Amino acid sequence: MKKLLLSAAVSATLAFAGAAMAALPNVSILATGGTIAGSAASNTQMTGYKAGSIGIQTLINAVPAMKQYANISGEQICNIDSANMTSDIQLKLAKRVNELLARSDVNGIVITHGTDTLEETAYFLNLTVKSDKPVVLVGAMRPATAISADGPLNLLNAVKVATSKEAAGKGVLVILNDEINGARDVTKMNTTNVDTFHAPILGALGMMNSDKPAFFRASTKRHTKASEFDISKVKKLPRVDIIYSHADDDGVMAKAAVAAGAKGIVHAGTGDGSIHEKTFPALEQASKKGVVVVRSSRVPSGITTVGTDEWTKAGILESGSLNPQKARILLQLALSKTTNREEIRRIFEQY
Ligand code: SIN
Repeated sequence: MKKLLLSAAVSATLAFAGAAMAALPNVSILATGGTIAGSAASNTQMTGYKAGSIGIQTLINAVPAMKQYANISGEQICNIDSANMTSDIQLKLAKRVNELLARSDVNGIVITHGTDTLEETAYFLNLTVKSDKPVVLVGAMRPATAISADGPLNLLNAVKVATSKEAAGKGVLVILNDEINGARDVTKMNTTNVDTFHAPILGALGMMNSDKPAFFRASTKRHTKASEFDISKVKKLPRVDIIYSHADDDGVMAKAAVAAGAKGIVHAGTGDGSIHEKTFPALEQASKKGVVVVRSSRVPSGITTVGTDEWTKAGILESGSLNPQKARILLQLALSKTTNREEIRRIFEQY
């Protein structure tokens, strides 16, 4: 009798543990490389190491605490230094995210990524993922082998955000150093410090509040399910170059971009997106040939406003509050749909 009671108790406990496990949400971690997967020769080496050298399973094994929050599965999309990111990888990643999120047994996605181009991939996904489920990008500023590596805690926080109900519908999110930012607004601000991702114009969406994310605002711009961009059948994105203005700028780079086959140019101008008088004729010429030119600014904060009549007459558009690298992503997607400037102007106003 005693034996029977004992085995009933054990089965009940196991059933309870099983139910508790089943109740956890399912999070897929897609790994792309970066410093979070970086490995250095010693634990004091913080620069000059190889980014993207550790595989997804090792990253998962390093943070067993994630299992308290979600059933975790991992997938390696690529393992690169994100300085080498390409639109082809971004397309592959977006397609895989959409495939996974269409499944009822996937509740959220975490993407590990190098910090150098993390904001570009995040914004690309913000415009191309067709789901309200949380998608969270995470990276690290110190390699996985470093003393006080920031990757493990950032990864744990990313899983917490990906399982949070409040993160749903907020667009693609970025978390590092406890700060939660929207993909559209976030940018890397410091070359080496762990406190590097901020949204200098519009501010963070939230932050970690001990165990949970706390959100304070949401973007009013179109994203994810409300986005018109469908990349399911897109094989290649058009070439769009960024031209960075400076004293002595003379249009050589603009001409080179056109010669290389650019369909769009983002001009990272001085101040409020100003164009050097020696460069303007090259951009005007490019615009006449059908290359869509968008003015942005090399200044890290503020809106690039409508400029001079001369620029407007030349058909040059403005990026609003998008920095040059975000404006480039939006222009690539816009050009994959249309070359009509009024349509592209509308797109820049809405996203
Ligand atoms: C990278 O972007 O892959 C290297 C730098 C980093 O992740 O911080």
